[in-house]
Amino acid sequence: MRFDVVTLFPEALSPYLAASILGRAQQAGLVEIHLHQLRDYSTDPHRKVDDRPFGGGPGMVLSCQPVVDAVEAIEKLDPRPALRVLTTPQGRRLDQQTAREFSGAGRVLLICGHYEGFDERIIEILRPVEISLGDFILTGGELAALAVIDSVSRLLPGVLGCGESAGDESFSGGLLEYPQYTRPQTYRGLSAPAVLLSGHHGEVEKWRRQAAAERTRIRRPDLSPATDTGAARSPRASAGERRGRAAFGSIAPWETGMDAAAARVVAPAVR
Ligand SMILES: C[S@@+](CC[C@H](N)C(=O)[O-])C[C@H]1O[C@@H](n2cnc3c(N)ncnc32)[C@H](O)[C@@H]1O
Repeated sequence: MRFDVVTLFPEALSPYLAASILGRAQQAGLVEIHLHQLRDYSTDPHRKVDDRPFGGGPGMVLSCQPVVDAVEAIEKLDPRPALRVLTTPQGRRLDQQTAREFSGAGRVLLICGHYEGFDERIIEILRPVEISLGDFILTGGELAALAVIDSVSRLLPGVLGCGESAGDESFSGGLLEYPQYTRPQTYRGLSAPAVLLSGHHGEVEKWRRQAAAERTRIRRPDLSPATDTGAARSPRASAGERRGRAAFGSIAPWETGMDAAAARVVAPAVR
């Protein structure tokens, strides 16, 4: 799979892309990632890529010419058609389903904004998929581009080693993943559930299925609508839920009765 990234700051992406699983995937030829400096496509003698917004206001807006020319020129570098993805806080929220869809594209061309964002005509002309990392404002689209490349790449065949799997992770089957434990069996008086050390695969599977369903019901009732209850939406757990949580050996901070505002700060997954 090929990724192209149009950015004013390629040096911000390079170290992350060279490390760990993504670095190995490129060395193995499973993923190709090409970074393109937006200024190289400007026809301005000073390589200018932005200008002041019409109508006034703060900041600078990325101009049409460099962005449109960059995308059209970069697309010609490879015969595979590219899925155009523009990073913006106003786009569709990136999630596992989006990553899955993109992983079938063969080629993705990511456009990173900066300053106040893009001249609207860039979007009208290029008709990209607009992708957001969430309801917050970043200084640029580079982190969003990295999130797309990372989440998509690890779904490609061969990218994860045989010891790693995308199969039963959170969101892969519509649930959060079950809690994980490793050695030592007991740490600071907290023991891993005995069933996980029983060697009984059937029982381990059953425990994991139940734990995943329960965790999803408590933390992300929006993912399991069949078990959605008003109580599960509350940052304070009901007595029944607290008993349920105790079965997993932990009570999350947002279930301890702290006030709702504080709970929301430490428990972003609870909606
Ligand atoms: C400061 S932001 C521009 C925000 C824009 N003025 C607005 O209010 O919608 C600059 C660039 O960072 C990127 N960016 C900022 N927040 C983002 C987010 N939540 N998701 C994806 N990209 C984001 C986009 O590429 C955007 O063009």
